Amino acid sequence: MTINITGTGSALPEKVVTNFDLEKLVETSDEWIQKRTGIAERRISGGETVSTLAADACSRALEMAGKTADEVDLILVATCSPELLLPCCACQVQDLIGASNAVAFDLNAACSGFLFALNTAYVYLQTGIYKNALVVGSEVLSKLVDWSDRGTCILFGDGAGAAFVEASGEEIIRSNGRRAGMECMVQGSDGAKGMVLSCGERAVNNAFTPKRQMESSYIHMDGQEVYKFATKQVPACIQKALDRADLAVEDVDWFMLHQANVRIIESVAKRLKADIARFPMNIHKAGNMSSATIPVLLDEWNRSGGIKEGDRLVLSGFGAGLTYGASILVW
Ligand code: UT7
Repeated sequence: MTINITGTGSALPEKVVTNFDLEKLVETSDEWIQKRTGIAERRISGGETVSTLAADACSRALEMAGKTADEVDLILVATCSPELLLPCCACQVQDLIGASNAVAFDLNAACSGFLFALNTAYVYLQTGIYKNALVVGSEVLSKLVDWSDRGTCILFGDGAGAAFVEASGEEIIRSNGRRAGMECMVQGSDGAKGMVLSCGERAVNNAFTPKRQMESSYIHMDGQEVYKFATKQVPACIQKALDRADLAVEDVDWFMLHQANVRIIESVAKRLKADIARFPMNIHKAGNMSSATIPVLLDEWNRSGGIKEGDRLVLSGFGAGLTYGASILVW
C-alpha cells in the first residue's frame, strides 16, 4: 500500500501587515524583528475565518488531486484558534466545501497540529478504515494575540494550508528507485512545560462554583524557553525519525520546518549538519501561522515546482503543549 499526498492547497488573508505597521503599535523596529526572527511581514485577517481559509485551502488541494468534495472520506482540521467551540471547524469545512460523505473532526496540537493530523490520517488510511483524507492546518491567531505585547505580536500571522492524502493498493516506485509515500513519523509531548506557551480560555465557572474572574485570553509566551526547547527537540526528533527509517541527513531533499524563527531553522540545520539551502522558508512574508505554517510552505514549494516526484521530505514542527514531531515521506 502507498499512502501519499496527492494535492496541496493554501489560503492567506488579503491584508499584509509589515514590521513598519507594527512600529506604530508597539516599541519595536523592522530591524529588530528581521534580525531576531527573519519576519518582514505577515497576513492578518480582515474578516477571513479559520473555516473559510481552511475551506479555500481544501478546495485547492482537491482540485490539484483531481477529486471532488463528495469523494472525501475524512477531514481533519488542526487548529488552536477555531471561531467556535461548537461545532468544530472540520464540520464547518465539510459544509462549506460540500464534502457530505466525510467524517470530520478537529485536533489541537498547536504548531505541531498539521503533523499530528497527518499522522492520525496515516493511521486511519493504513488500517483501511478510510481511503483518503483532507488534512488541514488553519489559524487566525491575530484574535489571540495581545497587540500591546511586543514579545508575541511581531511573530504571528493568519492562514491555512491543506493536503489531500490518499491510500492506493499498489506500491509506487519512483524513477530514482524510492518507494513513494509516508516512511516514518515521530511525535512527542512535554505537558510539564505547557505554560511556557499558553492561551487562556474559559475558567471553571458554573452554577456550583463561586464566581471567578475570566482569565486572560491572550497568548502568553516565554520566548527564550520555547527557543531552547525547539533548538534541542527539533533536531533530536528529526534524527530519531531518520534513525528509525535507517536514513541519513544526506538522503533528505527538503526539510520543511515549522516557520517560527529563522534562527531556530538555522540552528536545526547546523545541528543536523545539513545545508541550509535544503530548508525552504516563507517566514519572511508569512510569520508564524502555527499549524498552518508547514502545509502552507508545502503548498508554496510544491506549486513553485520545488518538489519533484521521488524527493524525500522531512516535515517537522514544535509548539504549545509543548509538542513536537517529524514525519518523513517520499513524494
Ligand atoms: O510556534 C512556536 C512559537 N514560539 C516561538 O517559536 C518563539 C521562540 N522564541 C523566539 O523566537 C525568540 O525568543 C523571540 C523572537 C520571541 C525573542 O527573541 P530573543 O532574542 O529571545 O529576545 P529576548 O526575549 O531575549 O529579548 C531581548 C531584548 C529584551 O530587551 P532587554 O531586556 O535586553 O533590554 C527585550 O525586551 O529585546 C527586547 N525585545 C524587543 N525589542 C524590540 C523583545 N521583543 C522586542 C521587540 N522589539 N519586538
